[in-house]
Amino acid sequence: MICKTEQDREGMKKANIIVRDALLYAETLIRPGISTSQLDKLIEKFIIDNGAVPSFKGYDGYPASICASVNEVVVHGIPSEQIILKDGDIISIDIGAIYKGYNGDAARTFPVGEISPEKKKLIEVTKQSFFEGIKHLRVGCRLGELSNAIQTYAESFGYGVVRELVGHGIGYNMHEEPEVPNYGKKNKGVIVKENMCLAIEPMINMGERYVYIKDDGWTIVTADGAPSAHYENTVMVTKNGVEILTL
Ligand code: MF3
Ligand code: CO
Repeated sequence: MICKTEQDREGMKKANIIVRDALLYAETLIRPGISTSQLDKLIEKFIIDNGAVPSFKGYDGYPASICASVNEVVVHGIPSEQIILKDGDIISIDIGAIYKGYNGDAARTFPVGEISPEKKKLIEVTKQSFFEGIKHLRVGCRLGELSNAIQTYAESFGYGVVRELVGHGIGYNMHEEPEVPNYGKKNKGVIVKENMCLAIEPMINMGERYVYIKDDGWTIVTADGAPSAHYENTVMVTKNGVEILTL
């Protein structure tokens, strides 16, 4: 959305602060032995206790309030009592909440216990790729500048940049125009407008970029089985710069 009023800007900020806080809460819950279904229940309660509504639940029939994507799962992992975190795993938690009609959306990849240096690096580079991207984000730029920076940075480490899923505009709806790809050409893409809200979300694979969708119709996994990380923030582009609403 392009926030036209002060009320829109305040609403987007509040919704996204709830998502940010839910992710900080999620981080405190993660440990070997907890199931992704337990995480879902606790985080759902957190969102509701904060006066918001979990936006994922029921979205296109999605059955839970969070996405919990372990190791080779890229995104949209469905929480399950059977999926129990163990030492050395990485888990991407994606959370969406609606507050007074405004949407917040963000994701992080967390380590479970002690993880390998390779997985640590993947998490760090995925996060940094977001920041490399937003260095280029300003009113009047083309989104291709951001997309290209994310891709160039991640690929310089030999990682695969997922193309089948992209970031998005966000506002009264979770998914709005424009699409925000994590790959592309500098001089291409939509021109960014003042007060545009975007969810920017690199999904980076340790191996090849290719993914497929499992039989449950949701879970996206890497084709080669290598681990994947996800880092997402909702941002607002103002005339003074970029405000990251979920940090
Ligand atoms: N947060 C995600 C996104 O940015 C995905 C939500 S998937 C859902 O698109 F279906 F579970 F909502
Ligand atoms: Co998103």
